[in-house]
Formats: sequence, structure tokens, C-alpha cells
Amino acid sequence: MTQQDLFESAKAAMAHSHSPYSKFPVGAAIRAKSGAIYAGCNIENASYPEGWCAETSAISQMVVAGDTEISEILVLAEKMDKITPCGGCRQRISEFASASTPVHLCDANGVVETVAIEDLLPKSFDLDDHT
Ligand code: THU
Repeated sequence: MTQQDLFESAKAAMAHSHSPYSKFPVGAAIRAKSGAIYAGCNIENASYPEGWCAETSAISQMVVAGDTEISEILVLAEKMDKITPCGGCRQRISEFASASTPVHLCDANGVVETVAIEDLLPKSFDLDDHT
């Protein structure tokens, strides 16, 4: 698997998931255009709506480090094979991706399916389209 490094990074991040409410740990890892890898986990809150997803954490790490382009992103959940990013995260990934950017979906052993972000979020909202 050529995404082994991304998978290991997402798995390590997932181990730090703060998900005492859902008990549903998630990890994500991004390879940015620079080649650097940024990982994240879901971070929940006692005020439930204030929690956020693993993909959002990984994007935050990337942006803070100065990278702005996602080459590929991998998502992994402890209790679900082939988790796909939620709607909000699809939009957040799109912000830093191109239509064909690969999103790798995993089981416990590695990548089981790869889909383009445009297939997960067709006709996405894009301010570039405004008149
Ligand atoms: N979650 C993610 O981290 N990523 C997703 O794409 C879907 C859901 C998290 C949010 C929450 O902490 C837990 O999974 C259960 O919904």
C-alpha cells in the first residue's frame, strides 16, 4: 500500500481521539503538496455540538503549518470499515483540494477504497463560481 505512511499517521492520531461521548474514535491524515503529512483526530466536548471531526483537525494542522493544498487524504475509524467524511468535512476538504483529489477509505488493515472528492461532494459550493 503506497499510503502506508498516511495510514500509520492516521492510526497514531486516532489513538489520541477525545471521544468519550460517542466512543467512536476517528483518525485522518493529509499529504500536502509540499510532501508533509498532517494528522488529526476527532475532539468531542461535553457541550456536544462543539466537538469536531478528525478531518477538520488534520486540516487545521496543515493550515497552521503553512500548507494549503491537499494531495491526498486518508480517513480511518476504529469501529467502522470504510468510513466516509461527513458533509461538513467534505466541504472543508474541498476548500484545499482539486476535484480529483483522492480520499482513501480504510478498514483496520489499510486502504480499501479510494474516491475522488468530487464524487463525495458533487456540485460543491465554490465562491469562484459567483458572478
Ligand atoms: N467523525 C469524524 O471524526 N469524522 C467523520 O467524517 C465522521 C464523524 C466523528 C465526529 C464524532 O466525534 C464521532 O465521529 C461520532 O460521530
